[in-house]
Amino acid sequence: MTATATQTVLSVDNLRTGFWTETGDVTAVDGVSFSVAPGEVLGVVGESGCGKSVTVESIMRLLDEKYTSYTGEVNFDGKNLLDLSEKEMQQYRGSKVGMIFQDPMSSLNPVYTVGEQIVEGIRAHMDLSKADAKARAIEMLKLTGIPSPEKRFSEYPHQLSGGMRQRVVIAMALACQPKLLIADEPTTALDVTTQAQILDLIDNLCKEFDTGTIFITHDLGVVAEICHRVVVMYLGQVIEETNVEDLFDNPRHPYTLGLIRSTPSMEAEQDEDLHIIPGRVPTLHNVPSGCRFAARCALATDHCRENAPELEEFAPGHKVRCFRAADIEEMK
Ligand SMILES: Nc1ncnc2c1ncn2[C@@H]1O[C@H](COP(=O)(O)OP(=O)(O)OP(=O)(O)O)[C@@H](O)[C@H]1O
Ligand SMILES: [Mg+2]
Repeated sequence: MTATATQTVLSVDNLRTGFWTETGDVTAVDGVSFSVAPGEVLGVVGESGCGKSVTVESIMRLLDEKYTSYTGEVNFDGKNLLDLSEKEMQQYRGSKVGMIFQDPMSSLNPVYTVGEQIVEGIRAHMDLSKADAKARAIEMLKLTGIPSPEKRFSEYPHQLSGGMRQRVVIAMALACQPKLLIADEPTTALDVTTQAQILDLIDNLCKEFDTGTIFITHDLGVVAEICHRVVVMYLGQVIEETNVEDLFDNPRHPYTLGLIRSTPSMEAEQDEDLHIIPGRVPTLHNVPSGCRFAARCALATDHCRENAPELEEFAPGHKVRCFRAADIEEMK
């Protein structure tokens, strides 16, 4: 990774996404920054509602802009994507940026064969003849490990299993050799064995194409499998960012430690009692003025309740938003 450390595919700088809702304005993503290098898998983790999906939906401008406001920068391909028109954005979705979501059917049209859909995606963005696009589609299906790809090419999505459909979506997402892949919980709906196969597949294909990946998951077991670096989000903000080894061996934010301790596969062997993080995530209408995690934190002091910590470099490459990052041992 050091060889690519200076290169970036994507850099998100102080992204803020607000929604105008009937019950008032909310800021779902509040000053998020991170970057992704070629071939790197950046994990984005955090409990439900912390802003993972809104972050990537903002990057791809998938939200209804009648009710959404963006500030900050999403730098990709020499441009700030937040400045582009909808027409210009369409050139990015599905070609330079591949996307995979939890439900493969959200990316597949039930009335067309899988082959037609992959070919259409390829021809919309690459200058290939129909025959060449078909050959490429079959090649992609083969690369994703779909048996008898020529036969599957002519089948409809409903004829495939969930795992096979997700392979088709991966084939579509990577067919135009995107520089960036965005995967939002792509394996959550799959059984464990299929999940492991799909993770391997994404890992191998991204290495082969040198694609930078943003991988969203709430499952730290998945993070350990596939991610190189990880951003932990809480209530719309990044609260910790580090490489995957340090995330598990040397977490510095009490929330990150809480997530690790509440993941069965990670700690259950040593400790049968899972430590559930007490309390609930506050709502976006009710964001605390001090540290957003203070009410749930075993280490919180009055200082934490009254002041909002910044995301600061704790060690090279390891950032934490916590006044008590140096005292985390007290929780162990
Ligand atoms: N269109 C919208 N209008 C208003 N609020 C929204 C909208 N979309 C999302 N939100 C809010 O933004 C916050 C972040 O949502 P988001 O979907 O990004 O969470 P998430 O981290 O992806 O959660 P999950 O793990 O459940 O997918 C939530 O409080 C959600 O209710
Ligand atoms: Mg989500």
